Amino acid sequence: MPIWGYDGAVPGPIIRGRKGGTIRVRFRNELDQPTSIHWHGIRIENSMDGVAGLTQPAVEPGDTFDYVFTVPDAGTYWYHAHNRSWEQVERGLYGALIVDEAEPAFAPAQDVTLVLDDWRVSPSGRIDEGFGDMGDWSHGGRLGNWLTINGATRPDIPLAAGRTSRVRLINAANARILELDLESLGATVVAYDGQPLAAPEALAYNPFLLGPGQRMDLLVTPGAPGTLALIEMSGDPFAFGQFVVTPADDQEAEAPALLPNLLPEPDLANAVEFDLDMAGGMMGRMTGAIVDGRYLEGEELFASRQVWAFNGVAGLSPEPFFGVERGTSVILNVTNDTAFPHAMHVHGHHFRIVARSDSEIDHRPWRDTFLIGPTQTTRIAFVADNPGKWLFHCHMLEHQAAGMKTWFEVT
Ligand code: C2O
Ligand code: CU
Repeated sequence: MPIWGYDGAVPGPIIRGRKGGTIRVRFRNELDQPTSIHWHGIRIENSMDGVAGLTQPAVEPGDTFDYVFTVPDAGTYWYHAHNRSWEQVERGLYGALIVDEAEPAFAPAQDVTLVLDDWRVSPSGRIDEGFGDMGDWSHGGRLGNWLTINGATRPDIPLAAGRTSRVRLINAANARILELDLESLGATVVAYDGQPLAAPEALAYNPFLLGPGQRMDLLVTPGAPGTLALIEMSGDPFAFGQFVVTPADDQEAEAPALLPNLLPEPDLANAVEFDLDMAGGMMGRMTGAIVDGRYLEGEELFASRQVWAFNGVAGLSPEPFFGVERGTSVILNVTNDTAFPHAMHVHGHHFRIVARSDSEIDHRPWRDTFLIGPTQTTRIAFVADNPGKWLFHCHMLEHQAAGMKTWFEVT
């Protein structure tokens, strides 16, 4: 199927670095539309964040751009187009960015990266060209009808029996929240969104939700040779790939913790708080929103294609949602006043989820993207320690395009 790909493939090449090292990518745009690359989850220098229109102008067809940045954290990250991403990512412009520990905590039998995607394929076997459909934009986004792993349909993924492998999962879908049956793999989790947990953990529930943009690293120790299906449960349970387990010569299972990255801990008692109300979409209660400085409602709002808003504003306004000085602890109180779940992504920072719908959360892994269900509230906290202009948006790419985005500034 014809796709758009980095170096002509989907996913693009795995870009691999070492914690604290420098990544250099010379990017040449051979599309016939402007584009840019975002390095999702990297606590990156602002000018390299790749957000067309906020941190750089989009790279014009035929032009090149040098992305050069250090990678402060080990873990599983990814890169993807960040201009018209609802079309460009859907056509295949994404890949994995893996940062290795400076001193590896353990040597997994295998280190497997699986980029998961769903595509909307037309009956002719081509990518469905119905981009920009307002039904998708105003409901749950562009959901696909064809699941792939590393661009392949129902691939076999080799694993060694009796030994511990690291499996990195990346959800590159435009809008689908994957519901993964990980219990049947006997997996434990060692990292979310790149950042290691203090110790490997059992899954809190099953199937496990992996939202667009999110990652998780698993340890899998298959007992005996055979096959283990990777099952997606958001529709009828569907095995979209399988691990083929082959005997290993030495049998040595280990489940060690990864080494932590060093992130600044937010000071909750002295944090500055901001409220974000998410509204809009079908079956929502939003009657109007400010679009490009003008209040629109009804058919006029729908015709503007901006049908979601944060605090009454659809899309980016000239003023940031908030501005703080570098080093400030920030708490965001996010309320989902819509009929849909969303996957909210903070650029340039990782945060801790401290409460959900008024219940305090004790277990607070670092994340860069969180899921929020309809009518839920979520309280997140982080230290705004990275200077620049940072996007905060829904990673359901149709929602982002239809207004679900804002930005904040750290000076
Ligand atoms: Cu992975 Cu602003 O996105
Ligand atoms: Cu959304």
